[in-house]
Amino acid sequence: MTKKVLALLMTLALILSLAACGAKTDSSKDGSKGDNAPSASGKSLVVYFSRTGEQDKVGVIEKGNTKIVAEMIAEKVGAELFEIVPKNDNYPTTFDALCDVAKEEQTKNARPEIKDTVENFDSYDTIYLGYPIWWADLPMICYTFLESYDFNGKTIVPFCTHEGSADANTQKKIQTAVPKAEVKEVLAIRGQDAQNDQSGVKKQIEEWLK
Ligand SMILES: Cc1cc2nc3c(=O)[nH]c(=O)nc-3n(C[C@H](O)[C@H](O)[C@H](O)COP(=O)(O)O)c2cc1C
Repeated sequence: MTKKVLALLMTLALILSLAACGAKTDSSKDGSKGDNAPSASGKSLVVYFSRTGEQDKVGVIEKGNTKIVAEMIAEKVGAELFEIVPKNDNYPTTFDALCDVAKEEQTKNARPEIKDTVENFDSYDTIYLGYPIWWADLPMICYTFLESYDFNGKTIVPFCTHEGSADANTQKKIQTAVPKAEVKEVLAIRGQDAQNDQSGVKKQIEEWLK
């Protein structure tokens, strides 16, 4: 049942995101968004949340879809990596059970605790933030991350993996969570491509960084 509800949600979200695509392209022409390359002067950090275990469309995976993309971006821009690891990692490793837990967290507007903190957060001026789309939103633990640091004057460059919802309007959600940051457009990658079409994903990253 959960899978059916999620599949319907993904299809609806895909239709909406395709409809919004034209508008996005136009707004990027003013040059205010879309330049996702790291700034010439400052340091960049790639922060990501990602799961192993059973995932949609890819079966049981040993390296999370978002982690694969995060590592590619970090290599490309020469940034350090920080993984958002839950303090108490009780997330199930089967897809349906994980969906249920994630839905409950979302309903409760939970803020799951994060195990580690980023050292010298102030020294970074560009934060690449990667996450899987969970129920057409960021996983709640990513909001914990966003609310744990001072993003005043920082640039957030979001990227996500998904199976149909594309970015699920998460640029706006991040901007609302951290109004003082400049939030760029989201790079949305299919989770199954991260596992099965890595050269294609590398090309998408290169285009996005231009
Ligand atoms: C709890 C849960 C909810 C999900 N919700 C959506 C969704 O709403 N839309 C979508 O396109 N994909 C959804 N997915 C699929 C994931 O976004 C996709 O498999 C992603 O690549 C997983 O990344 P990871 O391996 O880095 O955790 C969901 C997956 C899970 C586990």
